[in-house]
Amino acid sequence: MKKDLLKIDDLSKDDILDILNTADQLKYEHKHNIPHEHLKGKSLGMIFEKSSTRTRVSFEVGMYQLGGNALFLSSRDLQIGRGEPIEDTARVLSRFIQGIMIRTYSQEEVETLAKYSSIPIINGLTDLEHPCQVLADLMTIREYKNILEGLKVAYIGDGNNIAHSLIIGTLKIGMNISIACPKGYMPKEEYIARGKELSELEGTKFIITTSPEEAVIDADVVITDVWASMGQEDEAKIRKEAFVGFQINKKLMELAKSNALVLHCLPAHRGEEITGDIIDEHSNEIFDESENRLHAQKAVLLKLMKNNY
Ligand code: CP
Ligand code: NVA
Repeated sequence: MKKDLLKIDDLSKDDILDILNTADQLKYEHKHNIPHEHLKGKSLGMIFEKSSTRTRVSFEVGMYQLGGNALFLSSRDLQIGRGEPIEDTARVLSRFIQGIMIRTYSQEEVETLAKYSSIPIINGLTDLEHPCQVLADLMTIREYKNILEGLKVAYIGDGNNIAHSLIIGTLKIGMNISIACPKGYMPKEEYIARGKELSELEGTKFIITTSPEEAVIDADVVITDVWASMGQEDEAKIRKEAFVGFQINKKLMELAKSNALVLHCLPAHRGEEITGDIIDEHSNEIFDESENRLHAQKAVLLKLMKNNY
């Protein structure tokens, strides 16, 4: 495994499966009160430049359960907020702590942090990717369906960070994925190109369309995310108009398999990208998906912060 988890593509197929297996094991140990304090004496710094409920709490609690310690570092309070270069911050923090989770806007900032740190860096969401979320999604799908390979995922909505990580994560693992986004809101070209490459390599289907109906046909899993991500609040109104028809609702779900799962990374905007009744109907898997952030990330922490785990 690489030193850092900056993008989902940093993980090989075997790395992903290894993380998912470890996550299942850690979940079992957690539920059965079996101690697993493998990171005793280690500290994780958590730099947040954007808001968070799940990511903050799951990393902090995860480190505690692994016997370690987590420090919440708001970028407003760090000297980064007053202009200290990320390169210096990286070198200083590497002397104190054993890993950093960072949530910020720019992927480049995370890459720079990783380049100048001697400790593992974990991307807790950037504008480009959300790899930890997709690991939890894959874990949840496998819990419900027992397999991943060959299943069809449909993602309906914005071609954003979640869509990017999902394209790479699903195709790498041998799943099929259809992405439906309005014109002008497609995933970045580099992700489409990499997706095509992976689907050829794995012999799986990768479809990009502007039709939610086409994407959702016979899907085993239907996934969506907010129309306006953090940092896009000013565009909320214009996006609401552009995304008409891209809502997960009863009518659209009729096209998916009758036992299809619905996932949402949350927070959700009921009545926009998804209706309240669909969230209620699928609340089991949606809130398992949230919980699985904890277990999947604990697996990542162990893999990156403990030698040969
Ligand atoms: N899904 C997710 O990352 O949630 P938070 O923004 O609350 O961390
Ligand atoms: N796409 C969303 C995901 C939130 C977890 C955002 O970036 O705000």
